[in-house]
Amino acid sequence: MRVAIIGSGPAGFYAAEALLKRADAVVDVDMFDRLPTPYGLVRGGVAPDHQKIKTVIRVFATTAARPTFRFLGNVRLGRDVTVAELRQHYHQIVYATGNEADRRLGIPGEGIARCTPATVFVGWYNGHPDYRHAQIDLSVHRAAVVGNGNVAVDAARILLRTPAELERTDIAAHALEALRNSQVREVFILGRRGPEQAAFSPAELKELGKMEAADPVVAPGELAGYVGWESTGNAEKDKNLKILQSFAAQQPRAHAKKLHLRFLVSPTEVIADAAGNVAGLALERNRLEARTGGTVAARGTGEIEVLEVGMVLPAIGYAAERIAGVPYDEEARVIANDDGRVVDPVSRAVIANEYVVGWARTGPKGLIGEHKRASAHVVGHMIADGAEFAPRALPKRDAIVSLLRQRGLQLVSFNDWKQLDDVEVARGARRGAPRDKIADVEAMLAVLAQG
Ligand SMILES: Cc1cc2nc3c(=O)[nH]c(=O)nc-3n(C[C@H](O)[C@H](O)[C@H](O)COP(=O)(O)OP(=O)(O)OC[C@H]3O[C@@H](n4cnc5c(N)ncnc54)[C@H](O)[C@@H]3O)c2cc1C
Ligand SMILES: NC(=O)c1ccc[n+]([C@@H]2O[C@H](COP(=O)([O-])OP(=O)(O)OC[C@H]3O[C@@H](n4cnc5c(N)ncnc54)[C@H](OP(=O)(O)O)[C@@H]3O)[C@@H](O)[C@H]2O)c1
Repeated sequence: MRVAIIGSGPAGFYAAEALLKRADAVVDVDMFDRLPTPYGLVRGGVAPDHQKIKTVIRVFATTAARPTFRFLGNVRLGRDVTVAELRQHYHQIVYATGNEADRRLGIPGEGIARCTPATVFVGWYNGHPDYRHAQIDLSVHRAAVVGNGNVAVDAARILLRTPAELERTDIAAHALEALRNSQVREVFILGRRGPEQAAFSPAELKELGKMEAADPVVAPGELAGYVGWESTGNAEKDKNLKILQSFAAQQPRAHAKKLHLRFLVSPTEVIADAAGNVAGLALERNRLEARTGGTVAARGTGEIEVLEVGMVLPAIGYAAERIAGVPYDEEARVIANDDGRVVDPVSRAVIANEYVVGWARTGPKGLIGEHKRASAHVVGHMIADGAEFAPRALPKRDAIVSLLRQRGLQLVSFNDWKQLDDVEVARGARRGAPRDKIADVEAMLAVLAQG
């Protein structure tokens, strides 16, 4: 069996491992990525001050060392190679392309300067080549981060960390330089629902109380509904509420930067100054409304305030990008699938031998470790489906490489990546950091061309 996996994030690597460790069949896996570097959001999403979680790349490198695994970096499906070509060269295809688009607030002013989706801000500080030239203007004193998830917490924390806290991380050098000169003193994290509905993990929330030069601020009124409460019935939510109460009980240090956590407010307009930059964010006060099925929705009360901020970072979730030739579910904003088997989005008929794993399958929910089981589950379908047919003869394994080279593509192998890795680690050592990323594809390819 020969399998193409498109995308080298956690879901792609866990799918590769599940395929390659099979004792009952020989599987050749070619893993493609549009970037010369592997590991998806482990490299381009996970916050630089969270180095421990990034050690998972050692597990992925072990998979990459298996003899029938091949990495083909710097190849974008839909631009450099088509789905039809992959069908010719592989028995099965696995899409593991993640969620690289952002969700929008859909309010007036969203597109103005200094209103920057979290995808862009996160990619910028993590040295993702797509965002190295993003305009991140940190000359403002106050910023708002919209959303109550872990990405909002990451973005706020990075804005408020000191250069000393960041320089020994793998933060991109351009971001470290900009953050050294940052004027941001106050950040507001804004939730449209209440503290009980916030999606933060307790560990992430707690970390906000441990920043060197910034303190969390929770006005007592934000927790008014929770005076004397005992349990919400959900252990994670209870932990969050306890942490928030501890923040509310603390007096922030006089000279500390401030991180305000506010709830029950929805942005209704990003307000511009005369130069067209963000000058404020109009917020509507919400109340909670119970819905049938036990969910709780935010409903606007019509009461509006203007929060004076010079920068807005919406961190309200990601969505899958459309890829030419790959069926797309417009409503869920994922690759159309039925439990990981790719389907036609209209008829829901299964498209044989095509599968999807990770965030491209489920949308942007869940942690890195959760992909291990989820990808293995989809590989289970691949094995069951594959057993039903005799594999057809394919072109030679290297034919795809010749085809891509004929197009002038400089392919990046896993050994090439190891060379880039060594260069980055050596650059990082100069500032006592685990690595200093090369944030430019041309520069990466130039390093490899030098040998
Ligand atoms: C900002 C942020 C921080 C996070 N921090 C944590 C954390 O601290 N701990 C934790 O457990 N989880 C964290 N997560 C969640 C975790 O990153 C995801 O669960 C996981 O990365 C999703 O894996 P994936 O393989 O589906 O997608 P990704 O990791 O996004 O991988 C997708 C890959 O596909 C490639 N690709 C996309 N399109 C194409 C194409 N057309 N052709 C070829 N290649 C393509 C991309 O380059 C990328 O390498 C974080 C998520 C975000 C957004
Ligand atoms: N350190 C970590 O472990 C870490 C770090 C980063 C990310 N992650 C994981 O990655 C996944 C994605 O994280 P995420 O933060 O992007 O997503 P998320 O957890 O789904 O949070 C998105 C937030 O945006 C809010 N939101 C959505 N639409 C909105 C709108 N129109 N207006 C205002 N608010 C809106 C949501 O509110 P509602 O709840 O009201 O919809 C929610 O609070 C999560 O599973 C997360 O745990 C983990």
